[in-house]
Amino acid sequence: MTKVISLVGQKGGSGKSTIAVHLAMEALLKKEGSQVAIIDMDPQGSVLEWSRMRGDANPVVVHGTPETLNDILGQAADDGFDYVVLDTPGRRDSTLVELVAARSDLILLPLRPSLFDVRAVADTVRLLRSKAYKMRFLLSQSNRAIGTACLTLWQ
Ligand SMILES: Nc1ncnc2c1ncn2[C@@H]1O[C@H](COP(=O)(O)OP(=O)(O)OP(=O)(O)O)[C@@H](O)[C@H]1O
Ligand SMILES: [Mg+2]
Repeated sequence: MTKVISLVGQKGGSGKSTIAVHLAMEALLKKEGSQVAIIDMDPQGSVLEWSRMRGDANPVVVHGTPETLNDILGQAADDGFDYVVLDTPGRRDSTLVELVAARSDLILLPLRPSLFDVRAVADTVRLLRSKAYKMRFLLSQSNRAIGTACLTLWQ
C-alpha cells in the first residue's frame, strides 16, 4: 500500500521542501529496494532542481499540478511505490490544500517557532480540522533557546 505524506502550509520558508527531501531520503535508505517518489507541486521547483543537481533517479521526483495529481498517485500505487511525499507551494490556496489532504495518509505542517508563523498556519489548521484529516505539526528551524523564548512570549 502506497503511503502519501504531504507537506503543507502557506508560510513561505517554513521548511516544506527541505523536509520533503529528507523524508524521502530517509524512506529510501531505511529499506533496501524501497520505491519512493516526491511530487513537487510548487512552480518554484526546488525539489526538482535538487534532484537534477543530485543526478540520481532515486527518489523519483516529478512535477505535479492539481490536474495531474490523481493520475500520478494512481500510477505510483500501480507501480508499487512504498512512499510518495508531496511538496506544496507556500501560498494561500485552500483548494490545493483540500485536494492534497484528501489524497494524503498524513499531513505535516512544518512550523517555525515564531508568532507570525503560528498565526499564518491557523487558517490551514481550521480547514484540515473541519474535515478531520490526520495532521501533525513539525517544529522546524528551531533550537531550545528560540523555543523557550516563544513559549515565554505565549504564556
Ligand atoms: N531545519 C533547518 N535548519 C536550518 N535551515 C533550514 C532548515 N529547514 C529549512 N532551512 C532553510 O530554510 C529555507 C527555507 O526552507 P524550504 O525551502 O525548505 O522552505 P519551504 O517551506 O519549502 O519554502 P517555500 O514555501 O518558499 O517553498 C532554506 O534556505 C532552507 O535551507
Ligand atoms: Mg518549498
